[in-house]
Amino acid sequence: MEPQDTTLTTTRLRLDRLVPADAPGLFAYRGDDAVARYQGWRPVDEAEAARFIDEQSRLAFHTPDSWAQLAIRDRSTGELLGDLGVHFPADKQSPIEFGISLRPDRRGKGYAREAMSTVLDLAFNEWGYRRTVGSVDPRNVASIALLESLGYRREAHHVEAYFFRGEWVDDVIYAMLDREWRSTATR
Ligand SMILES: CC(C)(COP(=O)(O)OP(=O)(O)OC[C@H]1O[C@@H](n2cnc3c(N)ncnc32)[C@H](O)[C@@H]1OP(=O)(O)O)[C@@H](O)C(=O)NCCC(=O)NCCS
Repeated sequence: MEPQDTTLTTTRLRLDRLVPADAPGLFAYRGDDAVARYQGWRPVDEAEAARFIDEQSRLAFHTPDSWAQLAIRDRSTGELLGDLGVHFPADKQSPIEFGISLRPDRRGKGYAREAMSTVLDLAFNEWGYRRTVGSVDPRNVASIALLESLGYRREAHHVEAYFFRGEWVDDVIYAMLDREWRSTATR
């Protein structure tokens, strides 16, 4: 995957940029309580989802200190299954971060793990990052299971770390190094 190329295929998935026609589908699952509960961005209507896609279309992939959002699609049908955000840090010495959301009716099939494995391979083996981090609410058990299944280590648990939607919430920090990713045999 070249820096300017943002289309990526896996066994069952295609990852590429969001397009205007994705707005209804994006709003349908990103506006859903089950998906939005632990996330900062939740579109209030389809127009907000469309604005997000428009902003993303003007953002070059790999822009330092930016979140670039990729669509996760069924490889054969192109159907939108979810999205995967990549935070490119300001410099290569800082960790890269990912955020992933799946449509509730497409969970439990290993799509998140498949998509994450592919971008982790790219991040460590092609883009040259040394470390990745993930920040998660300890109640977000599906997300924690995903991170741990990929080989992320729990590095910290910050108690009542920030105020979010009317309550103080904990923040658990996960991390993985390039050598840890490469040394895990089963993937
Ligand atoms: C985080 C999230 C993407 C994880 O989705 P998920 O469906 O649990 O993850 P996967 O697609 O990797 O599926 C893994 C499960 O599918 C099962 N599975 C079924 N078929 C599989 C296959 N062919 N390959 C691998 N796993 C498979 C696995 O056994 C696993 O089940 P388990 O969790 O009971 O062990 C999802 O819960 C979500 O969208 N949450 C809301 C958004 C959010 O909070 N995101 C995190 C903040 S950035």
